[in-house]
Amino acid sequence: MSNLDGKLSLSGKVAVVTGGARGMGAAHCIALAAQGASVVVCDVLDVEGAAVAEQVGGTYLHLDVTSESDWESAVTATEAAYGPINILVNNAGVVGLGRVDKTELEEWNRIVGINLTGTFLGIRWCADSMKKAGSGVIVNISSTAGLVGYCDMSAYVASKWGVRGLTKSAALDLGRFNIRVVSIHPGIIETDMAADLAISFKRQAIPRIGQSEEVAKLMLYLVSDASYSTGAEFVVDGGQTLGQVYDLT
Ligand SMILES: NC(=O)c1ccc[n+]([C@@H]2O[C@H](COP(=O)([O-])OP(=O)(O)OC[C@H]3O[C@@H](n4cnc5c(N)ncnc54)[C@H](O)[C@@H]3O)[C@@H](O)[C@H]2O)c1
Repeated sequence: MSNLDGKLSLSGKVAVVTGGARGMGAAHCIALAAQGASVVVCDVLDVEGAAVAEQVGGTYLHLDVTSESDWESAVTATEAAYGPINILVNNAGVVGLGRVDKTELEEWNRIVGINLTGTFLGIRWCADSMKKAGSGVIVNISSTAGLVGYCDMSAYVASKWGVRGLTKSAALDLGRFNIRVVSIHPGIIETDMAADLAISFKRQAIPRIGQSEEVAKLMLYLVSDASYSTGAEFVVDGGQTLGQVYDLT
Protein backbone atom coordinates (compact mmCIF):
# COMPACT_ATOMS: atom_id res chain seq x y z
CA MET A 1 0.00 0.00 0.00
CA SER A 2 1.64 3.22 -1.16
CA ASN A 3 0.37 6.70 -1.69
CA LEU A 4 -0.11 7.87 -5.27
CA ASP A 5 3.17 9.79 -5.06
CA GLY A 6 4.94 6.49 -4.33
CA LYS A 7 5.77 7.26 -0.69
CA LEU A 8 5.20 4.59 1.92
CA SER A 9 1.94 5.42 3.64
CA LEU A 10 3.23 5.32 7.23
CA SER A 11 6.70 6.83 6.97
CA GLY A 12 7.38 9.04 9.99
CA LYS A 13 4.64 7.36 12.06
CA VAL A 14 5.31 5.73 15.42
CA ALA A 15 3.41 2.50 16.12
CA VAL A 16 3.06 0.46 19.32
CA VAL A 17 1.84 -3.14 19.02
CA THR A 18 0.98 -5.23 22.08
CA GLY A 19 1.35 -9.00 21.92
CA GLY A 20 3.74 -8.39 19.04
CA ALA A 21 6.01 -11.37 19.66
CA ARG A 22 4.08 -13.89 17.57
CA GLY A 23 0.88 -14.64 15.70
CA MET A 24 -1.23 -11.73 14.52
CA GLY A 25 0.77 -9.25 16.59
CA ALA A 26 3.97 -10.12 14.74
CA ALA A 27 2.10 -9.78 11.42
CA HIS A 28 0.93 -6.30 12.46
CA CYS A 29 4.52 -5.30 13.31
CA ILE A 30 5.83 -6.56 9.96
CA ALA A 31 3.03 -4.83 8.00
CA LEU A 32 3.49 -1.50 9.79
CA ALA A 33 7.26 -1.54 9.33
CA ALA A 34 6.86 -2.42 5.64
CA GLN A 35 4.89 0.81 5.24
CA GLY A 36 7.65 2.84 6.87
CA ALA A 37 6.42 3.11 10.48
CA SER A 38 8.78 2.96 13.45
CA VAL A 39 7.50 -0.07 15.34
CA VAL A 40 7.67 -0.76 19.07
CA VAL A 41 7.06 -4.46 19.67
CA CYS A 42 5.59 -5.09 23.13
CA ASP A 43 5.03 -8.47 24.79
CA VAL A 44 5.87 -10.65 27.76
CA LEU A 45 7.69 -13.18 25.52
CA ASP A 46 11.03 -11.39 25.52
CA VAL A 47 13.06 -13.66 23.23
CA GLU A 48 10.39 -13.91 20.52
CA GLY A 49 9.54 -10.21 20.84
CA ALA A 50 13.16 -9.12 20.47
CA ALA A 51 13.45 -11.30 17.34
CA VAL A 52 10.42 -9.62 15.75
CA ALA A 53 11.81 -6.19 16.64
CA GLU A 54 15.11 -7.06 15.01
CA GLN A 55 13.30 -8.33 11.91
CA VAL A 56 11.33 -5.09 11.50
CA GLY A 57 14.15 -2.74 12.51
CA GLY A 58 12.16 -1.62 15.54
CA THR A 59 12.45 -1.76 19.31
CA TYR A 60 11.32 -4.44 21.74
CA LEU A 61 9.87 -3.49 25.13
CA HIS A 62 8.75 -5.87 27.85
CA LEU A 63 5.13 -4.84 28.50
CA ASP A 64 2.55 -6.79 30.46
CA VAL A 65 -0.62 -5.04 29.32
CA THR A 66 -2.17 -5.43 32.79
CA SER A 67 0.62 -3.39 34.41
CA GLU A 68 0.22 0.39 34.66
CA SER A 69 3.90 0.86 35.46
CA ASP A 70 4.87 -1.15 32.34
CA TRP A 71 2.61 1.11 30.26
CA GLU A 72 4.08 4.25 31.77
CA SER A 73 7.64 3.03 31.07
CA ALA A 74 6.74 1.92 27.52
CA VAL A 75 5.22 5.28 26.58
CA THR A 76 8.19 7.15 28.06
CA ALA A 77 10.71 4.90 26.25
CA THR A 78 8.81 5.12 22.94
CA GLU A 79 8.64 8.92 23.04
CA ALA A 80 12.34 9.13 23.93
CA ALA A 81 13.30 6.89 21.02
CA TYR A 82 10.91 8.01 18.29
CA GLY A 83 8.63 10.84 19.50
CA PRO A 84 4.90 10.80 20.26
CA ILE A 85 2.81 7.73 19.40
CA ASN A 86 0.60 7.85 16.28
CA ILE A 87 -0.69 4.26 16.17
CA LEU A 88 -1.60 1.76 18.90
CA VAL A 89 -2.63 -1.81 18.10
CA ASN A 90 -4.12 -3.37 21.24
CA ASN A 91 -3.59 -6.95 20.14
CA ALA A 92 -2.38 -8.87 23.21
CA GLY A 93 -4.89 -11.46 24.29
CA VAL A 94 -5.46 -14.86 25.88
CA VAL A 95 -8.22 -17.42 25.61
CA GLY A 96 -9.43 -20.04 28.05
CA LEU A 97 -12.05 -22.75 27.83
CA GLY A 98 -14.62 -23.66 30.45
CA ARG A 99 -18.37 -23.75 30.94
CA VAL A 100 -19.65 -20.64 32.68
CA ASP A 101 -20.76 -22.51 35.81
CA LYS A 102 -17.32 -24.14 36.10
CA THR A 103 -15.21 -21.02 35.51
CA GLU A 104 -13.15 -20.00 38.54
CA LEU A 105 -13.03 -16.30 39.43
CA GLU A 106 -9.24 -16.31 39.11
CA GLU A 107 -9.47 -17.55 35.49
CA TRP A 108 -12.25 -15.04 34.69
CA ASN A 109 -10.13 -12.20 36.10
CA ARG A 110 -7.05 -13.35 34.16
CA ILE A 111 -8.82 -13.34 30.80
CA VAL A 112 -10.82 -10.15 31.35
CA GLY A 113 -7.72 -8.50 32.88
CA ILE A 114 -5.51 -9.07 29.85
CA ASN A 115 -8.07 -8.74 27.05
CA LEU A 116 -10.27 -5.91 28.33
CA THR A 117 -8.44 -4.09 31.12
CA GLY A 118 -5.20 -4.37 29.11
CA THR A 119 -6.93 -2.66 26.19
CA PHE A 120 -8.26 0.07 28.47
CA LEU A 121 -4.78 0.69 29.90
CA GLY A 122 -3.32 0.93 26.41
CA ILE A 123 -5.84 3.60 25.47
CA ARG A 124 -5.44 5.33 28.81
CA TRP A 125 -1.64 5.58 28.56
CA CYS A 126 -1.21 6.24 24.84
CA ALA A 127 -3.95 8.87 24.42
CA ASP A 128 -1.87 11.72 25.88
CA SER A 129 1.02 10.85 23.61
CA MET A 130 -1.31 10.90 20.58
CA LYS A 131 -2.61 14.31 21.70
CA LYS A 132 1.00 15.54 21.56
CA ALA A 133 1.28 14.08 18.04
CA GLY A 134 -1.87 15.98 17.04
CA SER A 135 -3.75 12.86 15.95
CA GLY A 136 -3.79 9.09 16.37
CA VAL A 137 -5.42 5.79 15.55
CA ILE A 138 -6.14 3.02 18.06
CA VAL A 139 -7.01 -0.41 16.70
CA ASN A 140 -8.46 -2.78 19.28
CA ILE A 141 -8.35 -6.47 18.38
CA SER A 142 -11.66 -7.98 19.47
CA SER A 143 -12.99 -11.17 17.83
CA THR A 144 -16.09 -12.71 16.36
CA ALA A 145 -16.48 -13.53 20.07
CA GLY A 146 -17.27 -9.82 20.40
CA LEU A 147 -20.17 -10.16 17.96
CA VAL A 148 -21.84 -13.44 18.98
CA GLY A 149 -21.64 -15.90 21.86
CA TYR A 150 -19.65 -19.15 22.00
CA CYS A 151 -20.10 -22.05 24.37
CA ASP A 152 -17.33 -22.84 26.88
CA MET A 153 -15.78 -19.38 26.45
CA SER A 154 -17.81 -17.00 28.59
CA ALA A 155 -14.86 -15.01 29.98
CA TYR A 156 -13.32 -14.63 26.53
CA VAL A 157 -16.64 -13.65 24.94
CA ALA A 158 -17.38 -11.15 27.71
CA SER A 159 -13.91 -9.63 27.36
CA LYS A 160 -14.22 -9.27 23.60
CA TRP A 161 -17.73 -7.74 23.77
CA GLY A 162 -16.19 -5.41 26.35
CA VAL A 163 -13.46 -4.41 23.91
CA ARG A 164 -16.13 -3.66 21.31
CA GLY A 165 -18.06 -1.40 23.71
CA LEU A 166 -14.93 0.25 25.04
CA THR A 167 -13.98 1.07 21.44
CA LYS A 168 -17.20 3.02 20.92
CA SER A 169 -16.94 5.00 24.15
CA ALA A 170 -13.26 5.73 23.60
CA ALA A 171 -14.01 6.91 20.04
CA LEU A 172 -16.59 9.34 21.43
CA ASP A 173 -14.22 10.56 24.14
CA LEU A 174 -11.15 10.96 21.95
CA GLY A 175 -12.63 12.16 18.65
CA ARG A 176 -12.22 15.76 19.83
CA PHE A 177 -8.45 15.15 19.88
CA ASN A 178 -8.43 13.80 16.32
CA ILE A 179 -7.91 10.27 17.63
CA ARG A 180 -9.86 7.49 15.90
CA VAL A 181 -10.62 4.22 17.72
CA VAL A 182 -11.83 1.12 15.85
CA SER A 183 -12.21 -2.59 16.53
CA ILE A 184 -11.22 -5.56 14.36
CA HIS A 185 -13.17 -8.82 14.73
CA PRO A 186 -11.18 -11.73 13.32
CA GLY A 187 -12.67 -15.17 12.86
CA ILE A 188 -10.48 -18.25 13.21
CA ILE A 189 -6.93 -17.28 12.30
CA GLU A 190 -4.05 -19.77 12.11
CA THR A 191 -1.91 -18.90 15.15
CA ASP A 192 -0.70 -20.61 18.32
CA MET A 193 -3.88 -19.47 20.06
CA ALA A 194 -6.18 -21.18 17.55
CA ALA A 195 -4.02 -24.31 17.58
CA ASP A 196 -4.25 -24.47 21.37
CA LEU A 197 -8.03 -24.32 21.22
CA ALA A 198 -8.28 -27.51 19.14
CA ILE A 199 -11.78 -26.58 17.99
CA SER A 200 -13.31 -28.79 15.35
CA PHE A 201 -12.96 -26.34 12.49
CA LYS A 202 -15.00 -28.64 10.28
CA ARG A 203 -18.12 -27.51 12.12
CA GLN A 204 -17.57 -23.90 11.13
CA ALA A 205 -19.42 -22.50 8.14
CA ILE A 206 -16.27 -21.03 6.65
CA PRO A 207 -14.36 -22.02 3.55
CA ARG A 208 -10.97 -22.00 5.28
CA ILE A 209 -9.03 -20.72 8.26
CA GLY A 210 -7.69 -17.18 7.91
CA GLN A 211 -4.08 -16.02 7.95
CA SER A 212 -2.56 -13.33 10.17
CA GLU A 213 -1.54 -11.29 7.12
CA GLU A 214 -5.19 -10.99 6.07
CA VAL A 215 -5.96 -9.31 9.39
CA ALA A 216 -2.84 -7.13 9.16
CA LYS A 217 -3.97 -5.81 5.77
CA LEU A 218 -7.24 -4.64 7.30
CA MET A 219 -5.31 -3.04 10.18
CA LEU A 220 -3.15 -1.16 7.65
CA TYR A 221 -6.24 0.20 5.91
CA LEU A 222 -7.71 1.32 9.23
CA VAL A 223 -4.58 3.19 10.36
CA SER A 224 -3.92 4.84 7.01
CA ASP A 225 -6.84 5.34 4.63
CA ALA A 226 -9.93 4.89 6.83
CA SER A 227 -9.95 8.57 7.75
CA TYR A 228 -13.73 8.83 8.24
CA SER A 229 -14.19 5.65 10.31
CA THR A 230 -14.24 5.66 14.09
CA GLY A 231 -15.98 3.61 16.76
CA ALA A 232 -16.86 1.00 14.16
CA GLU A 233 -16.45 -2.78 13.93
CA PHE A 234 -14.48 -4.33 11.06
CA VAL A 235 -15.06 -8.04 10.58
CA VAL A 236 -12.50 -10.36 8.95
CA ASP A 237 -13.96 -13.83 9.45
CA GLY A 238 -14.43 -15.52 6.08
CA GLY A 239 -18.20 -15.32 6.58
CA GLN A 240 -18.18 -17.22 9.88
CA THR A 241 -20.79 -14.99 11.53
CA LEU A 242 -23.11 -14.65 8.51
CA GLY A 243 -25.59 -17.22 9.80
CA GLN A 244 -26.18 -20.91 10.16
CA VAL A 245 -25.56 -23.41 7.41
CA TYR A 246 -28.40 -25.94 6.87
CA ASP A 247 -28.25 -29.18 5.02
CA LEU A 248 -31.74 -29.44 3.54
CA THR A 249 -30.91 -31.91 0.79
N1 LIG B 1 -6.30 -16.73 16.53
C1 LIG B 1 -7.59 -16.52 16.45
O1 LIG B 1 -8.33 -17.36 15.88
C2 LIG B 1 -8.20 -15.24 16.97
C3 LIG B 1 -9.49 -14.92 16.55
C4 LIG B 1 -10.05 -13.72 16.96
C5 LIG B 1 -9.33 -12.86 17.78
N2 LIG B 1 -8.08 -13.20 18.18
C6 LIG B 1 -7.38 -12.22 19.01
O2 LIG B 1 -6.25 -11.77 18.30
C7 LIG B 1 -5.23 -11.37 19.21
C8 LIG B 1 -3.92 -12.06 18.85
O3 LIG B 1 -4.12 -13.46 18.99
P1 LIG B 1 -3.18 -14.58 18.32
O4 LIG B 1 -4.10 -15.57 17.71
O5 LIG B 1 -2.11 -13.96 17.53
O6 LIG B 1 -2.63 -15.25 19.67
P2 LIG B 1 -1.17 -15.68 20.13
O7 LIG B 1 -1.40 -16.45 21.38
O8 LIG B 1 -0.41 -16.30 19.03
O9 LIG B 1 -0.49 -14.26 20.47
C9 LIG B 1 -0.91 -13.47 21.55
C10 LIG B 1 0.27 -12.66 22.05
O10 LIG B 1 -0.18 -11.89 23.18
C11 LIG B 1 0.84 -11.96 24.16
N3 LIG B 1 0.31 -11.71 25.52
C12 LIG B 1 -0.46 -12.53 26.26
N4 LIG B 1 -0.67 -11.97 27.47
C13 LIG B 1 -0.02 -10.79 27.47
C14 LIG B 1 0.13 -9.75 28.42
N5 LIG B 1 -0.41 -9.83 29.66
N6 LIG B 1 0.85 -8.65 28.08
C15 LIG B 1 1.41 -8.56 26.86
N7 LIG B 1 1.32 -9.52 25.91
C16 LIG B 1 0.61 -10.62 26.23
C17 LIG B 1 1.39 -13.37 24.04
O11 LIG B 1 2.66 -13.51 24.67
C18 LIG B 1 1.44 -13.54 22.52
O12 LIG B 1 2.64 -13.08 21.98
C19 LIG B 1 -5.76 -11.71 20.60
O13 LIG B 1 -6.33 -10.56 21.18
C20 LIG B 1 -6.83 -12.74 20.31
O14 LIG B 1 -7.81 -12.78 21.32
C21 LIG B 1 -7.49 -14.37 17.81
